[in-house]
Amino acid sequence: MTDEEKNEMVVTPWEVKGEVDYERLIREFGTQPITDELIERIAKHTGELHLQLRRRLFFSHRDLDVVLDLYEKGVKFVLYTGRGPSGPVHIGHLVPWVFTKYLQDKFKTRLYFQMTDDEKFVVEDELKLDEAKNFGYENALDLIALGFKPEDTFMIFDVKDIDLLYDIALEVAKRTTYSTARSTFGFQDSTNIGWIFWPAIQAVPCFIHAKVAGENVPALIPAAIDQDPYWRITRDIAPKLGYYKPAQIHCRFLPGLGKGGKMSASEPDTSIFTVDQPEVVKRKIWNAFTGGRATVAEQKRLGGDPNICTIFQYFVYLFEEDDKKLAERDAKCKEGAIMCGECKTELRERINKFLAEHQKKREKARNILEKFFIKR
Ligand code: TYM
Repeated sequence: MTDEEKNEMVVTPWEVKGEVDYERLIREFGTQPITDELIERIAKHTGELHLQLRRRLFFSHRDLDVVLDLYEKGVKFVLYTGRGPSGPVHIGHLVPWVFTKYLQDKFKTRLYFQMTDDEKFVVEDELKLDEAKNFGYENALDLIALGFKPEDTFMIFDVKDIDLLYDIALEVAKRTTYSTARSTFGFQDSTNIGWIFWPAIQAVPCFIHAKVAGENVPALIPAAIDQDPYWRITRDIAPKLGYYKPAQIHCRFLPGLGKGGKMSASEPDTSIFTVDQPEVVKRKIWNAFTGGRATVAEQKRLGGDPNICTIFQYFVYLFEEDDKKLAERDAKCKEGAIMCGECKTELRERINKFLAEHQKKREKARNILEKFFIKR
């Protein structure tokens, strides 16, 4: 394989590789960029802007303006996001969830959260159904640990809750041709038919509020852009079923700790899981790819490159709230005034502090998990 082929961008719900060109994704997926004007409009409702908006980590959308138009006329919306439980949660997954919590707090909306144990079972060759279900309950603890409350957070565990989902899934499936599904998801002759039907299930929570609460309102979906293909199909069908088209707000991918690529559970050495212990985090961060030079002397003379540095990106996405301090770190790195070891040590301390708290909250969440189960 040539270097060019290795770097070739692939972004699907099941695979992200190569250098991700976000501008190109906006063009190819046919989404809209998040403009300054839209950001100002959001700020009118939220007051402070979340760092993921200020730093344009959420960079693209579909119909966010429409949702805001409706909201301003008094039509509320619900939030919808989810997780495919094939293993432990990593800190990349937290990126859209932390943002979802911010939207929920600011707009006072209900969240539907889908745990797709069925998806992971049909997609992953080796995964057993019981394992996927179990990861689903374990992963739900991570969501709860972020501060979501059972009053306005409704979790759907697909296998457990299929009775609630099935009629809407059938309506969606009946209106989706194999040819559309194949061209959207790249299905092959060898793809199992469980997987081929499955996208109809991910569409359902876009519409579930009408069934559960009797109100037909739009859903807004915060997620990384890999999930977008689902919404293309769902948006085409929504009006045929009498629902609003679901809106999306898309984020970039938190990179893994290696060179290139998103954080991905399939590469455990370059991913930080929420259940990782401090020594493990220390080792992973110590081995991370940075924008540093080969020697300290060279780095002092020529400076480093924070743009390609994974460590710097972790400060940007999650671990440095203060924009001024972030800019200082950027400048110091470029001037050669700070060495990679210092950034790694600071990041490791911040991550381990965060994880110690998160892990305590996660354990406490076991006692209240059932309160989040969707009621019918
Ligand atoms: P899953 O489990 O692959 O990912 C869960 C969420 O995390 C996002 N994500 C990331 N965000 C930032 N940086 C990363 N490195 C990173 N890796 C993953 C994903 O975009 C997703 O938002 N099929 C879905 C489950 C699902 C869902 C949904 C997700 C069902 N309904 C609605 C979003 C919205 C899945 O397997 O997600």
